[in-house]
Amino acid sequence: MAIFGKKETLTLPAELPKHVGFIMDGNGRWAKKRGLPRPFGHKEGAKQFKKIVRYCKDIGLQNISFYAFSTENWQRPTDEINTIMELFREYIVDVRNFLSENTRMIFLGDKSAFDDDLQEKMIKLEEDTAHYTEMTLMMAVNYGGRSELAHAARILAQKAVNGEIKPEDINEQSIANELYTKGIPDVDLVIRPSGELRLSNYLIWQCAYAEYYFTDVLWPDFTPAELDKALIEFDRRNRRFGGV
Ligand code: FPP
Repeated sequence: MAIFGKKETLTLPAELPKHVGFIMDGNGRWAKKRGLPRPFGHKEGAKQFKKIVRYCKDIGLQNISFYAFSTENWQRPTDEINTIMELFREYIVDVRNFLSENTRMIFLGDKSAFDDDLQEKMIKLEEDTAHYTEMTLMMAVNYGGRSELAHAARILAQKAVNGEIKPEDINEQSIANELYTKGIPDVDLVIRPSGELRLSNYLIWQCAYAEYYFTDVLWPDFTPAELDKALIEFDRRNRRFGGV
């Protein structure tokens, strides 16, 4: 397949990762470099998010997830949180328009922290798109990997107390089944722009065997051509999953 990059000679690998996780980092620094307040960086980041989602659909990626707001991000200044929440609101209204049909939407994280109307909209979007099969688009909001695992542990403990399961029956699959990503393939490739080399509590269970792609490019500058580079690099990796 022809790719977005400048050199038309490059082609995308035949086999693409089953799940790409994006950590949308560097919005604040993008704004600072231009002498703008941090919220401007998030607005620009949200625009880039849309471009990347469309491109992922065009090239046939099946599962994509985006880290938009972590359980720790509530510590940020109020105006910055408000901007992200506004963008999130716009996204929920807009998402039906900017993607053609056949895309399933899932929200990863604890919805209970959001306003009631927002929670209802998120649930409605998940229900309305549950039968779509071409691509699954996951947005992690109020998400933390450790908190997700604690949530799964509470559900399993309650099931054991109710006598629905025995503690010795709990295995990797039963834990995976209580995660927000139930039924979604594990992350094959994590992409983190902005030069930071860490996972920051993102899908820690699902990334157990993920490959990592780091770049100094800031998220608002992360173009489809940058994604091409990550996919080509992923294709070069030799994944052994603990074998030889
Ligand atoms: C990390 O960059 C980015 C975030 C915590 C928020 C990401 C949110 C968006 C891209 C906007 C919301 C998008 C949608 C579609 C709802 P940072 O602020 O930590 O950047 P820095 O490390 O340069 O300070």
